[in-house]
Amino acid sequence: WVLSPRLPRFEGKRVLVTAGPTREDLDPVRFLTNRSSGKMGIAIARAFRDAGAQVTLIHGPIQVPLPAMVEGFGVRSAAEMANAVLSRQMEQDVIVMAAAVADYRPRPSVHKLKKESFDGRLHLERTTDILATLGSRKPDHQILVGFAAETGSVLEHAARKIARKNLDFIFANDVSAEGLGFAGDRNRLIALNRGGVQHDLGTRDKERLGHDLVRYLASQL
Ligand code: CTP
Ligand code: CA
Repeated sequence: WVLSPRLPRFEGKRVLVTAGPTREDLDPVRFLTNRSSGKMGIAIARAFRDAGAQVTLIHGPIQVPLPAMVEGFGVRSAAEMANAVLSRQMEQDVIVMAAAVADYRPRPSVHKLKKESFDGRLHLERTTDILATLGSRKPDHQILVGFAAETGSVLEHAARKIARKNLDFIFANDVSAEGLGFAGDRNRLIALNRGGVQHDLGTRDKERLGHDLVRYLASQL
């Protein structure tokens, strides 16, 4: 089947989208992060805005300009993103977690690590899984959407995440493909619903995929 060419209407709906990487401080001058640019999440926020929704965009440190008419809120670490998202969960109709949230964080040192006294080992602890926490307390009316950035058995991993995190939909993307995924302007998304039905949105620029993601969700509701 094909998606309707018209953008569905989300007037009166509140949508929260996350975008970009997180930064986990090692010391006052160093941090751990990832290659996410935030472009996919920003495109999704813009598409929901175009569909008439009231959109909040919680984003990590990104270089890409934010869309107009979207309420932006910048955070740094996974812990800050967790606070920002979880405190806003209950008023949202749709939540899309497109951010690349760190899975582990160091215990930051107040002083700059000195090479003579550092033994070269980093001790990392797990961060809160924001999406799994959202899934565990999801109100009935809320649509919860995750992303699965994978290499290898992309759909198998994505199917496991949809069940484990109690999601309604997950969008799998293969981040090992050349020029696609994390940093570029193009991506390939495969949608998966709870029933295990797949829909390939194709390989396209992220702006187009943002609109197609909104069309796909509307077609499934
Ligand atoms: N996610 C999250 N909080 C985290 C880590 C991930 O909310 N601490 C969200 C991401 O925003 C994404 C989904 O969970 O929507 C899947 O992220 P991904 O990194 O693909 O999966 P993980 O569950 O972290 O598992 P792994 O990294 O081991 O594949
Ligand atoms: Ca992860």
